[in-house]
Amino acid sequence: MTTIDILDPSVRTGDAMVDGQHRAILATVREIEEAVQNGTARARSSYWLDLFRDYLIEHFKSEDALMVRTKYPNLERHRAAHRAIAIEVHSLLSASQNGTVVVPSEIQAVARLFVAHIQSDDREMAIFTQDAHH
Ligand SMILES: [Fe+2]
Repeated sequence: MTTIDILDPSVRTGDAMVDGQHRAILATVREIEEAVQNGTARARSSYWLDLFRDYLIEHFKSEDALMVRTKYPNLERHRAAHRAIAIEVHSLLSASQNGTVVVPSEIQAVARLFVAHIQSDDREMAIFTQDAHH
């Protein structure tokens, strides 16, 4: 069971770098869901959540650099959205590392936040930054 089809047009921003990173992150979300649903060791969900967090942080840095480079006017608002998602992922990871069993609905809730962010903030950003590129 997956949260979103990673090829769904609604999660495409049109920026090749951003879209490639989104696909990799959403593929990782799938792996997490599977690991959690299969009930394999808690350690595995920590492993995947750790990876998810690393990918997200790297990805947010890339978007941040893009927004700074193109002087995106909604930079601060976008940064706040990134921070909010990072906090949610971090709290799941901490819980998992402390031995709490993370359930699929918790992973899906964070994934939905990320997808909603792509569908709104990231698409809006990409429209601006792509114009700024050319
Ligand atoms: Fe973003």
